[in-house]
Amino acid sequence: MKIVKTINELRKLRKEISGRTGFVPTMGALHEGHVELIRQSVSKTESTIVSIFVNPTQFGPNEDFAKYPRTLEEDLKKCEQAGADIVFIPERAEIYGNTAPFITFKVSPEIASILCGKSRPGHFDGVVQVVSILFNIVRPDIAFFGEKDFQQLTIIRKMVSDLHFPILISGVPTVREADGLAKSSRNRYLSADERAKAPNIYKVLENIRQKAAAARFDRLAVPIEFVEKEAVKKLESLVPGILIDYLEIRNRTDLSKSQFLVKDSHVFIAAYVGKTRLIDNLFIGE
Ligand code: PAJ
Repeated sequence: MKIVKTINELRKLRKEISGRTGFVPTMGALHEGHVELIRQSVSKTESTIVSIFVNPTQFGPNEDFAKYPRTLEEDLKKCEQAGADIVFIPERAEIYGNTAPFITFKVSPEIASILCGKSRPGHFDGVVQVVSILFNIVRPDIAFFGEKDFQQLTIIRKMVSDLHFPILISGVPTVREADGLAKSSRNRYLSADERAKAPNIYKVLENIRQKAAAARFDRLAVPIEFVEKEAVKKLESLVPGILIDYLEIRNRTDLSKSQFLVKDSHVFIAAYVGKTRLIDNLFIGE
């Protein structure tokens, strides 16, 4: 496995690759979720490039950029074990240069100011900026993104189609702990008590899914607002003190809203357990 820090070195190695190239962009602090993306890439392509770059432009001023976990040595071991061929670990100046960019990225508020975008203004602009820069450097045939960040995946798909990147986007199902908690770099911040309660987030999503399936079987029209309110109440009783940022049911293709549960329904949640913001989502349609 080769480790490169500069765009020049990366481009040189990239030129030598003849088959299809897979790409897994990450911010490091790798866990089983990231490793699954790398494995998927290794199984579907001839060469896999992983990037590890904690992108400053997608963090808000009060977010955890400085505190974001950095575990490079273990990350590199995990990349190698999963079968990555090249790991790209650029410094900030390598990606952004030393002057402010002239070209800015703006994701339409229709999709960037809902769900996670509501409390993280500018976040998806930063994601689209860095992913398009990385796509230009790496020039992959297939890029792998987790469904764990479903809104991000949706925006990236739209970006690739809007800008005509010749890249296939492959969405990978969320990897979970045995108790259902979605794997996340932020889980390490949970206290033992918080960690014990956090799986209730997934439990409530799964409960919505089951109820939606039952209602469909009975051909009942179920108002989404009712389901959302009931789920919020349930989660607040299961995890006292939880601060729910949003719990919303939307249509999974374009993240629009419907009045009643439909085939395309998908539930999204973000909540603070203690000081840690956790996100999850689940397809509840058919
Ligand atoms: P990061 O949070 O490091 O995640 C990198 C990739 O791993 C993303 O595609 C994310 O959806 C996926 N991932 C994280 N947890 C997962 C899980 N439990 N199961 C499956 N996939 C999971 O997302 C980012 O970095 C950044 O925004 C990035 C795209 C790298 C741009 O900076």
